Amino acid sequence: MSATVPSGSSGDPSHHWFQHTVFYEVLVRGFFDANDDGTGDLAGLRAKLDYLQWLGIDCLWLLPFNPSPMRDGGYDVSDFFQVHPDYGTIGDLVALVEDAHRRGIRVIADLVINHTSDQHPWFVESRSSRTNPKADWYVWNDDDKRWPEARVVFADVERSNWTFDDTRKQYYWHRFYSHQPDLNYDNPEVAEAMLEVVRFWLDLGLDGFRLDAVPYLFQRDGTSGEHLPETHAYVRRIRKQLDAEYPGRILLAEANGWPADVADYFGTGDECHLCFHFPLMPRLFTAVRREQRYPVTEILSQTPEIPDGCQWAIFLRNHDELTLEQVTDEERDYLFAEYAKDPRMKRHMGIGRRLAPLLDGDRRLAELLYALLLSLPGSPVVYYGDEILMGDNIYLGDRDSVRTPMQWSPDRNGGFSRADFARLYLPPLMDPVYGYGAVNVEAQMRNPGSFLHWLRGMLVQRRSLPVLGVGRMEVLDCPNPSILAFVRSGEVLEASIAAVPSTGQEPAVPVSTGQEPAVPVSTGQEPAVPGHRSQAVLCVHNLSRFAQPALLDLAPWEGMRPVEVLGRVPFPAVGAEPYPLALGPYGYSWFELSASVEPLGAQEP
Ligand code: NOJ
Repeated sequence: MSATVPSGSSGDPSHHWFQHTVFYEVLVRGFFDANDDGTGDLAGLRAKLDYLQWLGIDCLWLLPFNPSPMRDGGYDVSDFFQVHPDYGTIGDLVALVEDAHRRGIRVIADLVINHTSDQHPWFVESRSSRTNPKADWYVWNDDDKRWPEARVVFADVERSNWTFDDTRKQYYWHRFYSHQPDLNYDNPEVAEAMLEVVRFWLDLGLDGFRLDAVPYLFQRDGTSGEHLPETHAYVRRIRKQLDAEYPGRILLAEANGWPADVADYFGTGDECHLCFHFPLMPRLFTAVRREQRYPVTEILSQTPEIPDGCQWAIFLRNHDELTLEQVTDEERDYLFAEYAKDPRMKRHMGIGRRLAPLLDGDRRLAELLYALLLSLPGSPVVYYGDEILMGDNIYLGDRDSVRTPMQWSPDRNGGFSRADFARLYLPPLMDPVYGYGAVNVEAQMRNPGSFLHWLRGMLVQRRSLPVLGVGRMEVLDCPNPSILAFVRSGEVLEASIAAVPSTGQEPAVPVSTGQEPAVPVSTGQEPAVPGHRSQAVLCVHNLSRFAQPALLDLAPWEGMRPVEVLGRVPFPAVGAEPYPLALGPYGYSWFELSASVEPLGAQEP
């Protein structure tokens, strides 16, 4: 195997790997069951690394794998220093990380920082009396009236952020389920204990963490209890530890908020390396239903510049509901009406559905949304199963609707497990449209025209266009509101253009994508930094279900030639007039803007 995860000193550009990374979010419990007990495990995930490498992802994000009573998908941790016995052992985790690293794949994991399970020994002790050594490890109060400004996140199931404890005869604070008491970060012992958790897993080789529910760490009178300065100070403390002892490891903030509030979690480059861009996601779904770019362009215009060395993490779907917290009431009503026609599709403040059913199974629309995900500013995060357009099961409770077993083959249990069906942690999908008989990895790997192959090819293309990771974005003027067109431009490392990094080992089933890595195109501009060169990519998307004309204002690129990325097809050079293109229904195209204006016929076969 040739590819490994590089190590380096602090300040090393290789520490900015996350700016060029495609993340893959994986539910260990739902991916592959290696020991036939009906639950996916770490050994199962490790057995599927060939597949993930073949797909072309760069970093795994593991959903919580600690011991837990599993009343919130593992976000109710009962021991921060162990692996859930259903998933294996710490040794299995280390073996997974080492194997992934050998293939050039990094691994980050959830750090459930804000709360624990009420089964956690810390809480068991804390609730036992008002005087025990852990009495102040959680947030206690004599009444339930304090901090009325703090919203209840799961307002459909919890009436208050306070719950009365019968043993201690006091109320405890929780921002999520009442079985998830919040830790008290005003207690220095708690703050130190979580740093110990951080060190423990980084010492075992993890490449970083997603900081779960990070906005809620502190509470202060007269505030909403979100994004407080004390919370930012604690994030800086974690970051300082990473920079000092674990350079190259990353923090990814799960802070659901407006772009300006979320961007604060980058600090001045001294907090998180990445933050999820929550408000962008629902607006992509609004834009394609309204067939207008404005929901997307408006939220992008409200998105502040971020410090150097930082990056947005962008996504279409994840393990939670399609959250509609960061939209107006009118937009929420619209999205519910369009995407949750059956009330059983609603979950908390959102919609509990996967990508493919949300799009009524329209492959062209799925391709369009992925083309946007891979070209908008940020590092894309793919949710397991969405690469084969898996479906959901809205009859399962809470967010289990989108957490059913990965569909590997048309065999028993979708190839996920050889356990008896009744023993599976959740039933796999078996319906005629999205069931494992119709939608599975094996079939899609054998079919070069499948969505899986299409996505894999797009990831290959994206690797050859590093400017999509770090470039500026200029949204282009276009009189047609259904067209979303932008140019991503900037300076990129020469090496990252010329050599598409090898992913090492050959895939288990080698199949040509028909979309080989792009040959570098010259933009004719002198690089400001030696070893770098300019790259500019024009990305054009038609949000309408009908063919549309696009007249693009490409004045700053006059004289340059758009070269279509997938086929290396040269298009007419940009002139003084607006540039005309035509796009098919839900069509998209990416073009590199090249300075070499050869006659059109010269490059034809
Ligand atoms: C955010 C997680 O994504 C979600 O699944 C969980 O329920 C809450 N945090 C509480 O931990």
